[in-house]
Amino acid sequence: MLDKIKQIGEEFSEAIQKVTDSKELEEIRLKYLSRKGIFPQLFEDFKALPKEEKPAVGQLLNQVKNQTQNLFDEIKTKVELAGSHSDSYIDLTLPGRSKQLGSKHLLIQSMNEIKKIFIGLGFSVYEGPELESDYNNFEALNFPPDHPARDMQDTFFINDDFLLRTHTSPVQIRLMKNTKPPIRAIMPGKVYRNEAISAKSYCLFHQVEGLYIDTDVTFAELKGTLVSFVKRYFGDDVKYRFRASFFPFTEPSAELDIWWQPKDKPGQWMEILGCGMVDPNVLENVGIDPEKYVGYAFGMGVERSTLRKYKINDIRNFFDNDKRFLEQF
Ligand code: DAH
Repeated sequence: MLDKIKQIGEEFSEAIQKVTDSKELEEIRLKYLSRKGIFPQLFEDFKALPKEEKPAVGQLLNQVKNQTQNLFDEIKTKVELAGSHSDSYIDLTLPGRSKQLGSKHLLIQSMNEIKKIFIGLGFSVYEGPELESDYNNFEALNFPPDHPARDMQDTFFINDDFLLRTHTSPVQIRLMKNTKPPIRAIMPGKVYRNEAISAKSYCLFHQVEGLYIDTDVTFAELKGTLVSFVKRYFGDDVKYRFRASFFPFTEPSAELDIWWQPKDKPGQWMEILGCGMVDPNVLENVGIDPEKYVGYAFGMGVERSTLRKYKINDIRNFFDNDKRFLEQF
């Protein structure tokens, strides 16, 4: 039996050295190592041996079986490695795959342009949350609880005290509470209104708020700043006008219109922002002394100016995320 074991061991190592793929490897495993293979059979034969022969045969059998198993594992690893190499073979002559790059959304581009202009005019940038308290969104801005002006802004209420901000003006309140004057900042962001969705209005849009508080701020400065802005944004030849208006948080208040002349249609005035001198009640609400400080504020819609500037006729285009639209900008 000793000779038989040696011979099988040699046969096995000869056979396994010739293996080149996993199929051949499996054949060898079945023949020698599987449950019905040669080695288990040898162990069966071993059991039937007379007692005196067992020690020597057992020792040899274990030794050969271990060598066999080690050799098998070694070759198996080699075959697997070779296989995985051929699977991931890289053809260096293939042309590279181009990556599809995204681009900034047109609204973000517009906001960045607006920001850039105001930063150039000495404003810093400040942001506030979209989920806002009723107090900051309305009350601190001089909208008393039952004031009819609240109806101008169709509000998404979360509960009695919180809502989705209807404008960026509450960020003024946060800024004034947290900072000592002088303050000169713009506050861009998303706002929400519960309006019927159409080509002209959407339930969400973007605004950029502006605020300047110091001891000697004038309405003339407000006008000068806004005129600089529209000239830089729409071009030097832009036609504009200021119109008297009303907002609870500014007094006096105005709106700024620009003349809009589509190609084949009659021209018209288009409102692009509201503005005014910060109402003393608002300053008092945030703990700034209205005897000592004055300020101006303004707030503009981003979508509207962007629609005009890029000759887009449906606001919903901004929110559909249709690549065919987005790719054009
Ligand atoms: N918050 C106003 C709105 O959404 C816009 C506005 C008007 C903002 C006058 C101002 C302002 O800061 O002074 O309609």
